[in-house]
Amino acid sequence: MATINEYITANKDRFLEELFELIRIPSISAKEENKGDMLKAATWLKDSLLKAGADRAEIYPTAGHPVLFGEKFVSAELPTILVYGHYDVQPVEPLELWKSPPFEPEIRDGKIWGRGSDDDKGQLFMHVKAFETMVSTGNLHCNVKFMIEGEEEVGSVNLEKFCVDNKEMLKADVILISDTTMIAKDIPSITSGLRGLSYMQVEVTGPDRDLHSGLYGGAVVNPCNILCSMVASLKDSNNRVTIPGFYDDVRECSEDERSEMAKRPFNRETFMNSIGVKQLTGEKGFSDLERIGIRPTLDLNGIWGGYTGEGAKTILPAKAFAKISMRLVPYQNAERIAELFIAHFISIAPEGVTVKAEYLHGGEAYISPLDTFEYQAAYNSVKEVFNKEPIPVRSGGSIPIVATFEKVLGIKSILLGFGLDTDAIHSPNENFHVENFFRGIKTVVLYHFNYKELKSS
Ligand code: BES
Ligand code: MN
Ligand code: MN
Repeated sequence: MATINEYITANKDRFLEELFELIRIPSISAKEENKGDMLKAATWLKDSLLKAGADRAEIYPTAGHPVLFGEKFVSAELPTILVYGHYDVQPVEPLELWKSPPFEPEIRDGKIWGRGSDDDKGQLFMHVKAFETMVSTGNLHCNVKFMIEGEEEVGSVNLEKFCVDNKEMLKADVILISDTTMIAKDIPSITSGLRGLSYMQVEVTGPDRDLHSGLYGGAVVNPCNILCSMVASLKDSNNRVTIPGFYDDVRECSEDERSEMAKRPFNRETFMNSIGVKQLTGEKGFSDLERIGIRPTLDLNGIWGGYTGEGAKTILPAKAFAKISMRLVPYQNAERIAELFIAHFISIAPEGVTVKAEYLHGGEAYISPLDTFEYQAAYNSVKEVFNKEPIPVRSGGSIPIVATFEKVLGIKSILLGFGLDTDAIHSPNENFHVENFFRGIKTVVLYHFNYKELKSS
């Protein structure tokens, strides 16, 4: 029987070709027109789990896109690892900025290019191929379950119910997730926390129709002008969020934690260059890394209203809209923050306009403790594959369902991500290093082994 490394090397090209097949399915969860592709992607993964050696794999319909569940049972004596991932991807616009089409994956410069190559098809597929490798080489040391959803990018709105309804089926000792990043290709890290999220949409209405901006402008409330000043007032000159009560539940990090965090390698110039800016800004009194890792924040994600087409149209718009995300930290509650936002937003509306504010979706922040053997197993595995000690990093991103897993299933998650900041997830030209794909597979195989060893010791 081949060793693990021999098996992976011998099947390298096939693993990649299979991942390409998965990326070719345009499973964009946000778009109605891709509904059929969602089932197609779930079915493709189901077949791939069965081929890899799963005892069973089944597609569970939900009120939204289906969930795929698969498992292989080895022995009641062994621990069970539940792998979570998502087969849905973000929309691809603007298309003209892609150097190769988003759903026609190809390899250039040692990277796989295509929507979902990293987030999360590439990272999820590492687990399927790690599983196949363990089964085929006689190295499966844990029972394995897979829960793969199709709504992560639209807020996982139906997954909590799926968890509540299938608690017994989802029983496991630990949840393993690859859907995050590492510091850099040669600086491995393990995600020790995620931010929460409250995602809001607001609408400001003035006159009952668009008006001539010459005949009415100056005397009539303009919802676009008003929305701009309302949004601008949500942060003060120190870049603190002005919503009353917003910071009430935030627990400040200790000086020890902060100085530990400051040891993490971070180059301000490189960071700025990587996103094309010459200046960074944020909440007064906190470092760049703290601002994107351990502090809550508020950002306008989109704003529109009135005429936005070609050329000029002189109107005073009837309506203005905005989408706003608030990234949250531990102990802030997403729904509570949404309520505070709504109350505040309505209270600051001037007379003459009506304001609506709606909570679209969200979830709580997550902390992965470092003093557990679940974490130790991740640490040992990454260290062995990357030949360097991984650094724990509190990520600014969100996977809201991870806190729900803890709440509903009572299971902690390990965030073993292999993406890089340069992978351009959610952006044009998303990519994933071929090398990280294979290092990821090896790390996952080792994780199963190390987890079993540590758990039984
Ligand atoms: N995989 C990302 C989250 C992520 C990426 C966390 C990199 C840490 C590092 C996930 O697919 C995602 O995009 N989450 C959304 C939230 C969701 C509710 C739309 C996010 O963070 O915006
Ligand atoms: Mn993701
Ligand atoms: Mn994503």
